[in-house]
This record gives sequence, C-alpha cells and structure tokens, in this order.
Amino acid sequence: VDADGTRVFALDAQAGTTEFEPGVESETWGFNGSLLGPTLVADRGERVRVEVTNSLEEPTTVHWHGMHLPAEMDGGPHQMVAPDAAWSPEWEIDQPAATLWYHPHPHGETESHVAMGLAGMFLLHDEQERALGLPADYGVDDVPVIVQDSGFSAAGAREDAQRGYAGGLGDELVVNGTRRPHLEVADELVRLRLLNASTARSYAFAWGDGRPIELIATDGGLLEASVPLEHVRLSPGERAEVLVRMAPGERVMLQSRMTPEIAGLEPAVAAMNGGSDSFDVLELRAADELRPAASVPSTLTEIQDFDPAEVVTTRHFELGDSFEINGDAMDMGRVDETVTVDTLERWVVENPNAVPHSFHVHDVQFRVASVDGEAPPPELAGWKDTIFTEPETEYELLMRFDDYADADTPYMYHCHLLWHEDQGMMGQFAVV
Ligand code: C2O
Ligand code: CU
Ligand code: CU
Repeated sequence: VDADGTRVFALDAQAGTTEFEPGVESETWGFNGSLLGPTLVADRGERVRVEVTNSLEEPTTVHWHGMHLPAEMDGGPHQMVAPDAAWSPEWEIDQPAATLWYHPHPHGETESHVAMGLAGMFLLHDEQERALGLPADYGVDDVPVIVQDSGFSAAGAREDAQRGYAGGLGDELVVNGTRRPHLEVADELVRLRLLNASTARSYAFAWGDGRPIELIATDGGLLEASVPLEHVRLSPGERAEVLVRMAPGERVMLQSRMTPEIAGLEPAVAAMNGGSDSFDVLELRAADELRPAASVPSTLTEIQDFDPAEVVTTRHFELGDSFEINGDAMDMGRVDETVTVDTLERWVVENPNAVPHSFHVHDVQFRVASVDGEAPPPELAGWKDTIFTEPETEYELLMRFDDYADADTPYMYHCHLLWHEDQGMMGQFAVV
C-alpha cells in the first residue's frame, strides 16, 4: 500500500521453463515466474494499481476478467504493452466479493498467450462476505483451483492432443500448474475457488463419491443461498466457489465428468471436442484431526433483481457458425454497440449453432433473466460475466452500465473459447 492508500501490485510477464514431469522441461510463460501468476487480493472500496511490465519478446496485454473498471484500464486488445514496456492501470474496487482472474488479451494471440501459462486469480473481499465466516484462510481452507488442460510433449513444446470446433484440447489436466495434484486438508470445511482457465475445454466438476457439489458463488459473487448440484459445468472463463465438508482421514476426488448431454452436443460431435472426457482434477486428503467449522448461514447475500421495466435498450447478438457475431468478425476499428451510461440493458444472446460457445461481457456482471424463455436454473441465478451458451438456445441477460463513460475506448464482448475469439468472434461496445 503506497502513501496515498493505493494497493500496489507488480506483474512481470516473462518466459521460462516448467518441469511438469521430472526431467522434462517445457517452455512456459508466467507473471513474476515461469508459469501462471500470483493471486492478487483486494477489498471493496480500495484503490488498486497494477504495475505491469512485459519481459516477453512480443506484445501482450493483461485483462482483469470480471472487473468493473474504466475501459482504458481494462487490458483488452487496445491496451497493448510492447516488449520491455510498462503499463500501470489504476481503479477503485467497486463490486461485491468475488473470484475474478486476469489473463492476456492481444487480438489474435489470446489463445496462445493463455496456453503458454499467463493467467492468475484476482480475489475480492467485502465486509458482508467476511461477516459470514466462510473459510477464508488463503491456501489453507480457501483454495484457488485453476484448471487447465495441457499437452506438454517430451520435447517441451505444447501440443494439442486434438483440435475440434472448440479449439486446442490437451489430454491432461494441470491444476495450479501441477499435474495429478492433491491437497492436504486440516479443516472440516473447505472452500474451493474453481476457475476454468482452459482455452477451449469445458468441465463438469463433480465429487468422485457422488456427494453433491455445494455451490456458493458464481463469476461475480455469492449466490443468495448455497445450491446442491450433481455437477458444476464451467466453460472457459467461468468461475465457481464451492464448499466441501471433510471427515477425519477421508479422501475424496474432485473430478470432471463431461457427457454429451451436459455439453449439449450430439455424441459424434462430442467425441471430437472433449464432450465425453473424464478427468481426476484434485484429490482432497483430510488429516486425522480436523479443525471444526463454523456453521454456514443459510442466507449468504441478497441480490436485488433488475426491474425489466427499466430496460432502456434491447440488443440482439447472434452467434455465427464461422466465428462472427451478428454476421461480423471483430474489427479493431469498428465500435459495434454504443451504450448509454447509467442505463439498464437487455442483451439477447442466441446460439443457433449445433455447438456451444461461451459468451463473455467486459466491465459488468449481468443477471440471466431467462434461458429459452424459462427462468434460469439456480446456478445461473447470481452474478455472471461469462455464460456457457448451449446449442440452439437463447439467453436473455440484464446488465447495467453504471459509470465510466468513455466514447474513445471500447470494451469487448466475445466468445471465451479463445480460438473463436482470436478468429474474430468478438465485438466492441463503448459506454457514452
Ligand atoms: Cu477473460 Cu475478454 O476475457
Ligand atoms: Cu473479460
Ligand atoms: Cu465460440
């Protein structure tokens, strides 16, 4: 924290190597190290500044995914940082406690920069969340779980096991940069912050012993109450906070068990796109004696619904089948939508294709008002910034662009399957 109370972080994008398997060095990129980046933590109301430097040999950017902030600070494709250059965005944290993340966003290169290892978590806390007494001891009972699929060959270069419609798929998982990980647990109650930081693969997280997944938060913060689910489906970019209760000495495996049905795919299409793949993700191993947990309040937060009667503008976004949105591929020089500041908007996102996408909007957290005209399921009832858009399905999203008008600098909306994004499945909106 500097003299005027700003919380200052430093991130240096750099190349290095990682030994995923003993004796095999892979070239990887990271922030302040050779893979991934530090977890940044800030409080609601705090002013933050991130001193970004680029020690790579090519330009990149750092985007704060899920963050409400001025467009110039957003780290999208217009905020390129040249090799050896620096960039210091600064903003005030003005949103509820949440699990956000950061990653590069250079137009046309996002998939490769993320696949090389550039990503990290950005956790926000607030007083209301603290008062709940949820597990909050970072790395002990409050644990980041960054899930990526990788194909690191013996020669050390990244190789995709498969390239289907979704993009490059690795045939092995790394969690927080580690293969076949486990977590020693000394607490009865553990909070996992799941982040799908994969470039293309979607997951259906479930417990190996069949216990329900206790979902407490989605992209933009806490749900009103925890939701027991058979599985939590996350497309690239999405996050979920879950609680798990451990018994002394117990072991339980977090898995991903995707099925064509969960992926919304025809079985033949699923086979080419990871839609029927299962993985062990992370094993939890409880100690013989566990610290008891406080009880979790039945109401976690209150989420005020937007009033649809206040919608000022309705926009339609049709996801194309060859990487366009509303018929156009991304053009850095074209602003597609102009939003009036401090108004409520309805974005109707339609996926008419036979394959899913992952629709993400910068700057805001939105609410899902309906899925094909029906009320959303409980896991979509909270704040979201990225949503798995199933084939032949229409989503009605409500969002308010509170402030930060800037006619000169657009924000992005795009498919978070990063290959699709790189191919042009992205558009720009300005808030004026
Ligand atoms: Cu996580 Cu525009 O990105
Ligand atoms: Cu984003
Ligand atoms: Cu897509």
